[in-house]
Amino acid sequence: MAKSDNAFVRVKNLRKYFRTGTQIPLLKENPPVRAVEKVSFDVIKGETLGVVGESGCGKSTVARLLMQLIKPDAGEIIIDGLAVDQRGGISIRDMRHRMQMVFQDSYATLNPRMPIEESIAFGPISNGKKALEAIQESKEVMDQVGLDPNLYLHRYPHELSGGQRQRVNIARALAMGPEVIILDEAVSALDKSVEAQVLNLLSDLKSELKLTYIFISHDLNVVKYISDKVMVMYLGEVVEYGTVEDVYNSPKHPYTAALLASQPSMDPSRKLKSVPITGDPPNPINPPLGCKFHTRCPMVNDMCRTVNPNLQSTDKVHHRSACHLSSNITVAKTLNAEESLNS
Ligand SMILES: Nc1ncnc2c1ncn2[C@@H]1O[C@H](COP(=O)(O)OP(=O)(O)O)[C@@H](O)[C@H]1O
Ligand SMILES: [Mg+2]
Repeated sequence: MAKSDNAFVRVKNLRKYFRTGTQIPLLKENPPVRAVEKVSFDVIKGETLGVVGESGCGKSTVARLLMQLIKPDAGEIIIDGLAVDQRGGISIRDMRHRMQMVFQDSYATLNPRMPIEESIAFGPISNGKKALEAIQESKEVMDQVGLDPNLYLHRYPHELSGGQRQRVNIARALAMGPEVIILDEAVSALDKSVEAQVLNLLSDLKSELKLTYIFISHDLNVVKYISDKVMVMYLGEVVEYGTVEDVYNSPKHPYTAALLASQPSMDPSRKLKSVPITGDPPNPINPPLGCKFHTRCPMVNDMCRTVNPNLQSTDKVHHRSACHLSSNITVAKTLNAEESLNS
């Protein structure tokens, strides 16, 4: 991947296989789940990188690897020029100061027996901040996320709505003073109107606090709205990366084109005649040889069945696609005509 000098987060060749089932010596091990493979990307300071792809394509695994909640099998994670490792780079503790994560399930991440004030102050206090100071600051971050501290500080998670709980989770992340926030399906469980409010809040916080986001979602519309760059994943690999404009207006990978074409449209003249991509992705335990998308691709040829394409520049240096046929502009044209990928 070409270097962008102001990359705040840089990921190189990340790999994670999950081993499941028997670990008994002499018995044959189950083949691993290849959750993430050769994943490389940069997140530029002050930008939002959107990460999209069908369920199970490895988005959350990338997030958990970045936060060091799980260990990568291979690859490098570099934060602000410092490698996250034990050998003189940035420690996991310092990294978590600078990078925080907000999950989808706001209820599960809050302690039901802890009032909101304590939930927010918990992280800073565990990091050595004095309790009084942490409580004072928790009032400030409540204000920042649009919850009146006087009304909400002493409430418990069950007394809040889903949107309010998600605001509390954002406040908990902010209380650590991060520079990067990873949002993993952070608005996906909310009603559409509440989702819009939380998205607006995230945009405001980003400009006020000069934050950098990694925004993971299966919802292409939401990602388009909030992101500067987009990364499309398929079966654990990055298949396309570029600016929102380039990826949404001229997708170079047939999978991206298919995802975009499957977006429901309110305009009756654009109604889909047929679903452009059908079925589930193949099993990541036994992914297809060659290009992993070839079993569902309308443009498949012999090379696709044997050679796994690398992510490489298309007609624009910073717009990258992992497809042998990316230079073939009919990818976008075919799908804009909303022809079926599978027919
Ligand atoms: N702890 C785990 N053990 C085994 N397999 C896992 C584990 N976590 C995730 N996986 C598998 O790894 C793949 C990627 O999962 P995930 O990163 O959660 O995808 P996404 O967030 O895009 O839906 C899936 O096939 C999933 O079943
Ligand atoms: Mg996920």
